[in-house]
Amino acid sequence: MIVLGIETSCDETAAAVVSGDGEILANEVLSQIEDHRPFGGIVPEVAARAHLLAIDSIISRAMDGAGIGFADLSAVAASGGPGLIGGLMVGVMTAKAITQVANVPFIAVNHLEGHALTVRLTGGDNGADAGGVDFPYLLLLVSGGHCQLLAVKGVGDYRRLGTTFDDAVGEAFDKAAKMLGLGYPGGPLIEAAAEDGDGTRFKLPRPMKGRAGCDFSFSGLKTALRRAILDIPPDLPGGALSAADVADLAASFQDAVADVLVDRSRNGLILFGDQFPGQATIVVAGGVAANGAIRARLGELAADKKARLIATPVALCTDNAAMIAWAGVERLKLGLTDGLDFRPRPRWPLDPTAPAAIYAGVKA
Ligand code: KG4
Ligand code: ZN
Repeated sequence: MIVLGIETSCDETAAAVVSGDGEILANEVLSQIEDHRPFGGIVPEVAARAHLLAIDSIISRAMDGAGIGFADLSAVAASGGPGLIGGLMVGVMTAKAITQVANVPFIAVNHLEGHALTVRLTGGDNGADAGGVDFPYLLLLVSGGHCQLLAVKGVGDYRRLGTTFDDAVGEAFDKAAKMLGLGYPGGPLIEAAAEDGDGTRFKLPRPMKGRAGCDFSFSGLKTALRRAILDIPPDLPGGALSAADVADLAASFQDAVADVLVDRSRNGLILFGDQFPGQATIVVAGGVAANGAIRARLGELAADKKARLIATPVALCTDNAAMIAWAGVERLKLGLTDGLDFRPRPRWPLDPTAPAAIYAGVKA
């Protein structure tokens, strides 16, 4: 079994080839960051055009890299949502066209399912656990558009335990980085700046910490960071923050986020344990899962709760097509293919039974 995966839901144009036994034969990612930089954020129309320009060559590179032709494929999988509609249409239409040439099934993958199942492709980063991550597990999904805790019961079978009332956690990182003048995407820049910082210097709030349940909120933390920045007397001409200020603010922000994620995940482990007695595996996935400080704090929580932490390998935390191809493999093995009448879904919750959170759906 060999599946071509295509990812175009946000600002990466990506194509990958993955085999049925979980070998990544090719994994090409082209970031559009430079296209969006002049605008200070992702512009959907710019993204759609950039996907259109790049998609053919990225797919060719992936196929050549894997050393195969379309006739060798078993299926083509594309991100079908959630995400920006223009990009989704480019990926889905390209995937459908290839399935017609190759005479193989088309598979529409929920982008979030791609993040959710990546550890089953790679195993975690934690050595001994590599290769075997069985259902069910608790999933902390932390990305630019989402912040959720879910019980993953099987392919296509998710139960949401909590979500954010306002910003996604990656979005909060991105906005914090903008306030600190660090650039985009903010997560890795905050993490780097925080390395030399003192996380205890600024007393930032920990929204939702100590509350029952698994929901999140980050807008208060963002506002508190803005206030902390304004309260610092400028010590450089022009009023810029010093490098030490930026480092301390970044570290204080990152510590606050980590505290909240650990607190919510602790509740998640309890709820999950009630539903699945004796099961205690927590998986962390999505772009923010690349953050070393957050991974370390989750590791401490897991050790404390006698749970097993499986962290998605850093290289596959942010958006890529290997995760889409692999979700395609998992679906193909179960006979879960889609018709050519599939329409991209800008909003596509993993758990369709979960009630909409306040503000939910504003972000893809
Ligand atoms: O999963 P992803 O690539 O895209 C979405 O599906 O949203 O996540 C991108 C997000 C961005 O907000 C980025 O700032 C954040 O992940 N991110 C990080 C790190 N690397 C990426 N956040 C914190 N620490 C990092 N090292
Ligand atoms: Zn993503």
